[in-house]
Amino acid sequence: MTRAAKLTFEDKTIELPVIEGSEGELAVDITQLRAEMGLITLDPAFGNTGACTSAITYIDGEKGILRYRGYPIEQLAEHSSFIETAWLLIFGKLPTRAELDRFSAQLTAHAPLHESFKHHFEGFPVNAPPMAMLSAMINTLSCFHPEAQDLDEAAFFEEAARLVSKVRTIAAYSYRRSLGLPFIYPDPKLRYVANFLHMMFSMPYDQHVATREVIEALNLILLLHADHEQNCSTSTVRVVGSSRANLFASCAAGVSALWGPLHGGANVAVLEMLEAIHKGGMSAEQTLALAKDKKSGFKLMGFGHRVYKNFDPRAVILKRSADKVLGQLGVNDPLLDIARRLEELALSDSYFVERMLYPNVDFYSGILMRAMGIPTNMFTVIFAIGRMPGWIAHWKEQHETEGMRIARPRQIYTGPRETNYLPMAERK
Ligand code: SDX
Repeated sequence: MTRAAKLTFEDKTIELPVIEGSEGELAVDITQLRAEMGLITLDPAFGNTGACTSAITYIDGEKGILRYRGYPIEQLAEHSSFIETAWLLIFGKLPTRAELDRFSAQLTAHAPLHESFKHHFEGFPVNAPPMAMLSAMINTLSCFHPEAQDLDEAAFFEEAARLVSKVRTIAAYSYRRSLGLPFIYPDPKLRYVANFLHMMFSMPYDQHVATREVIEALNLILLLHADHEQNCSTSTVRVVGSSRANLFASCAAGVSALWGPLHGGANVAVLEMLEAIHKGGMSAEQTLALAKDKKSGFKLMGFGHRVYKNFDPRAVILKRSADKVLGQLGVNDPLLDIARRLEELALSDSYFVERMLYPNVDFYSGILMRAMGIPTNMFTVIFAIGRMPGWIAHWKEQHETEGMRIARPRQIYTGPRETNYLPMAERK
């Protein structure tokens, strides 16, 4: 039996169907509201708006639960790899050995960039932010693969593999460009993460060999970032994709959305905040006080989340991993102690407790990446590499949804009523 919610406005009442998700979440379907009642809903920042139904990722923000295609993030973090998880997200099930081998082979085949990409990179100023280059170069892929527009199943597989693979090469080249270093070609003998580290850190005369600990830690970081349902960048990919923009153009827009400090850029902001505390610019206590002062405009970076009102399960895994990996690498980073102290202070402060503000995915990831030798300006780029399978999965799901329409919100207009044009001479 379909459940319904009743809405009464003045002398009219409408019954709105209530949709139930597979985990019992309820949503009022308002698609007929304007046509039948002349009303729209107003929900700036979409805090109460479900933009779609989706079978990819489940979050219970109250309980701190995150699952990809039903699999708890803790199990995937322990047993899976980034590439296996990418397949799971994009294609909806864990791959068989043959499927995973085929996907890995495609990733290896697609790792190199067209030689002319080098000239594109050389056109950027050396101090260009890697996120700007990443977005531009992902868009540039559309120039080389215009077929990414209307994709049948086989073509989609090809383009998805191309993007998952090339985003890593583009990211590494962006870093090399920012240092004025020679580009390093991908090595077909290396697996996904080791190959990325090779392209980042090798020299033509000196092959960088990443340690097992670093490869495992980066693999984990990518896996934990792989999807997070309708976050700002994924919603951007969906909005852009809804105009039937191709896969590359849609994901390039996702990179731009991710860049901001309230979203993926928070991992950089966290590190800058911890460094400022370390250098004595401000104590942990002063930092918290500033974050509580609304007039300051400052937020405690890496804290709070639109959906989680409990621990972000990814932050729990990353904190544990930071403890372990820093120990394995013999790194004694004072920023880790500062982060732990800030967390402790915040979690016992009534401002943060009342608002249910906990560490999010960006709070500990920067410390881990720093221990691995990854420079700060690459942190959000690494987030983008990790998020690519999620963006691709959502683009695919959206395109497979029957009756997909262009995203086009409405508004409540608050500007001037009709006004007659004034000739220049009459204007004050
Ligand atoms: C990511 O959406 C996703 O899923 C994103 C993500 C993903 O994987 O895709 O999880 C990745 O983007 C993580 C978030 C990274 N950003 C930060 O760490 C920046 C710091 N955090 C915030 O600015 C904030 O918490 C957001 C942006 C994450 C969430 O913003 P909301 O949902 O709009 O929160 P809100 O403004 O409604 O906050 C409620 C209250 C407000 O106070 P009151 O007006 O009720 O008094 O909490 C306060 C806020 O001012 N608040 C904070 C705070 N976060 C919220 N106060 C101080 N420091 C903070 N960090």
